[in-house]
Amino acid sequence: MSRHLAPLYTQHIATLRERADKALALGGFDHLLIASSTPLRKFLDDQDYPFVANPHFRHWLPLTAAPGSWVVYTPGSKPRLIFVQPRDYWHVVPAAPSGYWVDQFDVVIVRSNAEAVAQLPQGHRAVIAPSCPGIDGVDVNNPPPVLDYLHWHRSYKTPYELALMREASHIGARAHRAAEKAFRSGWSEFGIHMAYLAAARQIDAELPYASIVGLNEHGAVLHYTNFDRTPPKESRSFLIDAGGSASGYASDITRTYAAEGHAEFQALIDSVERAQQGFAAMVKAGQSYPELHIHAHHVLAGVLREHGVIRMDAESAVQSGVTSAFFPHGLGHPIGLQVHDVAGFQASESGGSIPRPEGHPYLRMTRVLEPGMVVTIEPGLYFIDMLLEELRATPAAKDIDWAKVDAFRPYGGIRIEDDVVCTDGEPENLTRNAFAVV
Ligand code: GLY
Ligand code: MN
Ligand code: MN
Repeated sequence: MSRHLAPLYTQHIATLRERADKALALGGFDHLLIASSTPLRKFLDDQDYPFVANPHFRHWLPLTAAPGSWVVYTPGSKPRLIFVQPRDYWHVVPAAPSGYWVDQFDVVIVRSNAEAVAQLPQGHRAVIAPSCPGIDGVDVNNPPPVLDYLHWHRSYKTPYELALMREASHIGARAHRAAEKAFRSGWSEFGIHMAYLAAARQIDAELPYASIVGLNEHGAVLHYTNFDRTPPKESRSFLIDAGGSASGYASDITRTYAAEGHAEFQALIDSVERAQQGFAAMVKAGQSYPELHIHAHHVLAGVLREHGVIRMDAESAVQSGVTSAFFPHGLGHPIGLQVHDVAGFQASESGGSIPRPEGHPYLRMTRVLEPGMVVTIEPGLYFIDMLLEELRATPAAKDIDWAKVDAFRPYGGIRIEDDVVCTDGEPENLTRNAFAVV
């Protein structure tokens, strides 16, 4: 893996340097200083929240946790890594940097955060760091022209980044297989989650987001994260939305399963999956993502009708908001260093925002797809009590088969989610490719 990554990484750093040169010139800055940042301490405690390095820091190098360290870039010079290796016998001291990536940096090892700050160059500095917790002796400015430029270009993944995202997808797919097996063996949500972590070989804090592991009706809670400790009397259905991390890059994968003997729900899953594959095939250069989202509403209306849930035609189901009651989230989002990656709404490299289509408040991506972008495609159909009650009070209620709705309610819902790369030609489905080999 590392041998394969080294040339890609060299190219990646050359790209980041070019981008940083332009971003700094836009803001009139001499230096780019990127803090890994430091852990946030719990109030009145001596414990920290789990720490993840600033995504801009992780963009430059595969160190996901190097608290207090800095990437320093001055146009025309080799990037520097100011690496904190504290004198500490309470914790594991981070090993000195090594691996395929270190040659691209001048590495300076220091013993404390303050010593790291003392190494930072003076002058007109663009400092990228969270504003909390603050950093003694450093004015964090996160200059908007610099950030806008860098965020825009983060949308276009380098071959190095795509290699890591393939790896993140493999980790996720492998763990999903273990989770499905645990579900079919009747395990609790908690037990399934443990099986997932073991197969991923990652702890919760390393995952790109909190896993959603829901049996039966829990599939109807979009972000269900309770992990019931005891198995239900009957496991009818299972929705799992869980990813993996590879050197700071995310995968975001959802699958829904029906237990043996629940053919009607299985048939609905199959229809959503067919629809989902159709949308994934449309991840092509020039495709407007919000138009794809609206298209998904029409196709899912057809699925609801085909399965006897609604009686109206697709157009009126979308116009009247009926599909939004069953599919109440966006079709997907950009993904990369963050599971919900930056710049999903950005209008250009100098900022601005493309609004969401009216009536679609949760869509996280309003741009036109271009080669190098990676997005999720995650349609769903859910039976959510709160939204169904609201729907019952609308004129459209008469065109809904409520007995059918009640028959599906005990299964919660369905979501199928893949991570898909837009290329010059056919899309690359990172998730399907990973499942094919695990
Ligand atoms: N797992 C969060 C999402 O699918 O966006
Ligand atoms: Mn997602
Ligand atoms: Mn997800």
